[in-house]
Amino acid sequence: MNVRDEHVLRELSLYPLWVRRGVPVQEEAFPVVQEATEAAQIESPVVAKAPAVVEIPVAEPVSGVAALDWPDLKEKVRACEACKLRAGCTQTVFGVGDEQADWLFVGEGPGADEDAQGEPFVGQAGKLLDNMLFSIGLKRGDNVYIANIVKCRPPNNRNPEADEIATCLPYLQRQIALIKPKLIIALGKVAATSLLGREATLGSLRETVHDYHGTPLIITYHPAYLLRSPSEKAKAWVDLKAAVALMR
Ligand code: URA
Repeated sequence: MNVRDEHVLRELSLYPLWVRRGVPVQEEAFPVVQEATEAAQIESPVVAKAPAVVEIPVAEPVSGVAALDWPDLKEKVRACEACKLRAGCTQTVFGVGDEQADWLFVGEGPGADEDAQGEPFVGQAGKLLDNMLFSIGLKRGDNVYIANIVKCRPPNNRNPEADEIATCLPYLQRQIALIKPKLIIALGKVAATSLLGREATLGSLRETVHDYHGTPLIITYHPAYLLRSPSEKAKAWVDLKAAVALMR
């Protein structure tokens, strides 16, 4: 067993363990479905089990970002006061990593550590995310970009509200357009439903390759949830393996 395999199994609380010889690890890719408008018409069991669509209310999205380059986009986010979150946070948290990355990981919003340091996923959940990246041969900043749905910390770590998401989303959309990732991985329900523009349970969205405006989108658990529910790490590992298979 190599160091990374051992690391992965330890991270998943599955090591030490017995492995039956000759039983290959399955690396099946997920079924691919079209999202958004087509999704309702596809008679796939995955889509069929999705609950009724609840539209996320549209507030006042920030405007004038669709043509910005990186420096102007960063400055616009830095100076943004478009929603009520800005008044309660220390600074905006733009995103970090390789601006031409193939892999884009999207979280929910900054927590206390991220608010203090100005970088996404630098607290405990960030450490687990780094370990998840390592488990599939990736490293923060190296062909990987990490961003959040909202750029300002919601108070008391509450979920961002629908109007805050709607306001902030154009920033992430512009980041995605500039990065042109080959794959987006949404971490947790808020990231997933915000990108898809519809309400659903995380369980119903996993194990499917969604389509985010032409870019494959895989949905898995948020690292903070995995810290609270370590037994779910094995499912996240399934999702990561499927992402690797897809990228091959
Ligand atoms: N949780 C998130 O969703 N994003 C962060 O940046 C940190 C914690």
